[in-house]
Amino acid sequence: MDNGRIKCLGLACSPRLNGNTSILLEKVMEGAAAAGAATEVVRLVDFSVAPCRACDGCFTNGKCVVKDGAADIFTKILEADRIIMAAPIFSMGMNAQAKALVDRSQQFWATRYVLKEPVIQDSHLRPPRRGIYISAAGTNLPGVFDGALRTARYFFKMLDIQWDSSYCFPLTDKTGVINSNTEALETVFQAGTLLTSGGSNAS
Ligand SMILES: Cc1cc2nc3c(=O)[nH]c(=O)nc-3n(C[C@H](O)[C@H](O)[C@H](O)COP(=O)(O)O)c2cc1C
Repeated sequence: MDNGRIKCLGLACSPRLNGNTSILLEKVMEGAAAAGAATEVVRLVDFSVAPCRACDGCFTNGKCVVKDGAADIFTKILEADRIIMAAPIFSMGMNAQAKALVDRSQQFWATRYVLKEPVIQDSHLRPPRRGIYISAAGTNLPGVFDGALRTARYFFKMLDIQWDSSYCFPLTDKTGVINSNTEALETVFQAGTLLTSGGSNAS
């Protein structure tokens, strides 16, 4: 919480600044702010996040041996009450910048399943953390969002974030084309409001 307000963190994962998922994320955040939440957007392009080395170093203490921007992002994620992950589809899956961050959450997998410790130490003192996933893809190929959705669910689970819902927009390719989809923008605005006002988007 931030001075009694729900803390809402958006992860803008696309390398395309002002791309479709970033525009959708901004709308979610507008909805969250309208409901009284404190909002912050983190752009992954502003951080250096190396891929996981699979060294198992985190198995000893739940900390990654690679010292880079992932630690700063994880600090923000752990503090937040609501997480919105906005990551587009690249090559039928989540884009690489987003996937690198997900793989680095292996330290939380180690915390939970190797060290058998809670990821959120004071979870009994905080409201349940909840999150939504936003995506866009150029095509409407069957299953185009399936892999990314599984990865996003896994990511949330590792970080002790309850899955609330997802908003995936096919046939959304050119930069900014989502701006002409007023229904999509309204839908995600409402999602941001619901996510932070106690309601659930879950269907
Ligand atoms: C490297 C790359 C790979 C892509 N692969 C796919 C794909 O496999 N399937 C698809 O439907 N769209 C694909 N796209 C299109 C993007 O999903 C689409 O442009 C989306 O709107 C990008 O979101 P953004 O503007 O937030 O970055 C790809 C785009 C790029 C740059």
